[in-house]
Amino acid sequence: MKPLRVLIVGVGGLGKCLVLEALERDLPVSVLVRNQEKLRDDLGEATLAKLENIHVGDGTDAQVLDKAMQDIDVVLSGRGAAPDLARELAAAVKRNGVKKLCWPGGTTNVMAEDGITPNYKELQHLGSWVEQAYALHGACIDIIRKAGINYVIFCPGRMQGTGRRSPDVQATIRINRDAGPFVSYEDAAWVLLEAATTDSYDHQLISAATPQTAP
Ligand SMILES: NC(=O)c1ccc[n+]([C@@H]2O[C@H](COP(=O)([O-])OP(=O)(O)OC[C@H]3O[C@@H](n4cnc5c(N)ncnc54)[C@H](OP(=O)(O)O)[C@@H]3O)[C@@H](O)[C@H]2O)c1
Repeated sequence: MKPLRVLIVGVGGLGKCLVLEALERDLPVSVLVRNQEKLRDDLGEATLAKLENIHVGDGTDAQVLDKAMQDIDVVLSGRGAAPDLARELAAAVKRNGVKKLCWPGGTTNVMAEDGITPNYKELQHLGSWVEQAYALHGACIDIIRKAGINYVIFCPGRMQGTGRRSPDVQATIRINRDAGPFVSYEDAAWVLLEAATTDSYDHQLISAATPQTAP
């Protein structure tokens, strides 16, 4: 079977780990970034040389997206909380016959442990940003859900790089529930590539957490 061809849009903290995880899985990887020099600094020449295509442009530009999505099976966004980007990516995924969009949301937007209470209500004591994050991620999720495409929304707590993947992040994956306050970029990337390459989480909001031993 031919390996899935993935396009990663936005290579920041999460996006870099998405690239590395996809390459580790021997997938053909293309990226769309706004700044190629920054990409070179972040990834290094050796990793850059392993990429199928480097597209430079804005992820909200329909023409740029149509070019970048030629022969692509799955799109993973390295940027969330941006309704304009969600709208354009979802529309381009549909237009170009891409099989799936994997998108980062936030833990505010899954359910709390009881399965009834929206998690942002449990987190409101953390500050006014919680409700704002819920609204912003919610707007993106609505757009993607209504676009008539296949998708997976990953809803992490705080993310940061730890330099390594946890031995068993798979065991922490939850469907539409809060998994915990922190997930490393490396673990998040592993979960997102699982979501990209299997149908296990299609049309779901999922979360995962890195065990508390992480910094
Ligand atoms: N970090 C967290 O704690 C956390 C927690 C929950 C959810 N999230 C969600 O996860 C996403 C990824 O997190 P992160 O920490 O990796 O963020 P990040 O380091 O800021 O990376 C975001 C990347 O997206 C790129 N980008 C933004 N708008 C773009 C556009 N229109 N077209 C192309 N590229 C674009 C940025 O590129 P430039 O370099 O050109 O600006 C940047 O490289 C966030 O956007 C957020 O919604 C993050």
